[in-house]
Amino acid sequence: MLSKRAQKLKTSPTLFLVAKAKELQALGNDVISLTVGEPDWATYPMASEAGIEAIRTGFTKYTAAQGTLELRQAIIQRTKIDLNQEYKISEVTVTSGAKYAIFAALQVLCDPQDEVIIHSPYWVSYPAMVELADAVPRIVTCTEKDNFKITAKALEENINDKTKVFLFCSPSNPTGFVYSKEELKAIGDVLKKYPRVHVITDDMYHRLMFDGSNRAPHILDATPELRERTIIINGASKAYSMTGWRIGWAMGSEKIIKALGDYASQSTGAPCSISQAAVVPALLNAEPNIHQTSALLKERLQMALKEFKTIPEFKVFEPQGAFYLWVDVTKVIGKSYDGQKVNSSQDFGKILLEKFFVATVPGEEFGNLGYLRLSFAIQTERMVEAIGRMKSLVGQLI
Ligand SMILES: Cc1ncc(COP(=O)(O)O)c(C=O)c1O
Repeated sequence: MLSKRAQKLKTSPTLFLVAKAKELQALGNDVISLTVGEPDWATYPMASEAGIEAIRTGFTKYTAAQGTLELRQAIIQRTKIDLNQEYKISEVTVTSGAKYAIFAALQVLCDPQDEVIIHSPYWVSYPAMVELADAVPRIVTCTEKDNFKITAKALEENINDKTKVFLFCSPSNPTGFVYSKEELKAIGDVLKKYPRVHVITDDMYHRLMFDGSNRAPHILDATPELRERTIIINGASKAYSMTGWRIGWAMGSEKIIKALGDYASQSTGAPCSISQAAVVPALLNAEPNIHQTSALLKERLQMALKEFKTIPEFKVFEPQGAFYLWVDVTKVIGKSYDGQKVNSSQDFGKILLEKFFVATVPGEEFGNLGYLRLSFAIQTERMVEAIGRMKSLVGQLI
C-alpha cells in the first residue's frame, strides 16, 4: 500500500525516545529528558506580544508564499549585522521551520543519484532528507582526532562527479563544536575548485556561543566567492526559543531561492502569518535576551562539566556553542547491569532510560557509535540530578 519512499522512512529516533520518556512519565516515574533540541526558557516577550497583537488585529490570513516583506526585511537586516552580507528581498524565503528550508533546498538542488556530502556526527534528519530528494547521502565519518569536524582533505577526497551539495552545521548538533575561520577557509578553498558543488550551511545555533562572540565564524567570511552557490539556513527556533512557532528561512542566489519558494508554496503554502509577525521584533530587538541566554547556557554548561568530572568512565567534550554535550561512553561498553549486557551506546541509553529514568540520544542516531548526546537546555538542578543517576548506573556496572 505504501510507496517505496514511505516504506524507507523511519520515525525520527529522537521523537521516538521523547515518546518513550513521556510514556514512562505518564506511569508516574520522575523522568528527566535530555533528548530534545529545545530551549526550556520562554519565547521572548516582544515576540509573544507581537503574535498576540497579530491575532487581535486580524493578521491571520495567507501571506506571500515567500514570507511577509516585514519579516524578510528583518532577516536581511539581521544578516547584514551578523554576517556582514547583503541580501535582496528576492534572495530570502521564509519557510515553516528551518527543517523545511533544508528539505526544500535539497529538493530543488538534487537530481536522482546526486551525492550530498554530510559528515558524521550529523543532525539526525540530514540523511533522511537527502534520501527523500532521491539523492545519496555520502557520509564522511569524523572522529575525535579532528574534533568531529570534516577536514578540507577529507572533503576533497569525497568530492566526485556526482557531488551536488556539501551540507554542514556550525555550531554542530550534536557536538557543539564550531568551525574556526581557518578551517572554513581551507574548506572554502577546496569548494572553490568544484563549481558544481553547492553549500548548505545550517546556521541554526550560530548565535549561541560560549566564547563571548556574537556569532560563530561563517564560511562566507572566509570564502565570500562562494556566495552564489551557498544557501544559508537559519530560523527562530533556537536562539529565540520559538520552536513551536515554526519559522525558518533560506537565503541565497535569486534563482535557487525562487525555486525553493515555489517548491514551498506548492507544498506547505505560506508560513503562519502570526508567527511571522512575532519573529520580526525578535530579530530586531532581542539582542539583550540572546546575550542573557548564551550566558545562562554557559553557566549550565560549566556546572554540567564539573559534575561529569565525577564520572571518569565518561569522556565529555566541551562544546563551543549550541546546547548539547557529546559524551564518549565507550568505556562502559562490554559491561553488564543487573544481568543485562551493555553492547552499545544504545543499550546504555536504554538502561539509563528504563531503569534510571534519564532520556538521552545514543550516538548511533548521529552516525557515531559509542556516544550519547545530552541537551543541557534544562534547569541546572535537573541536569545535576540526571548526571547523578548516570553515575549511579555506571557504579552498578560490572
Ligand atoms: C541542526 C539543526 N538544524 C535545523 C533544525 C530545525 O529547526 P526548526 O525546524 O525548528 O526551525 C534543528 C532543530 O532541531 C537543528 O538542530
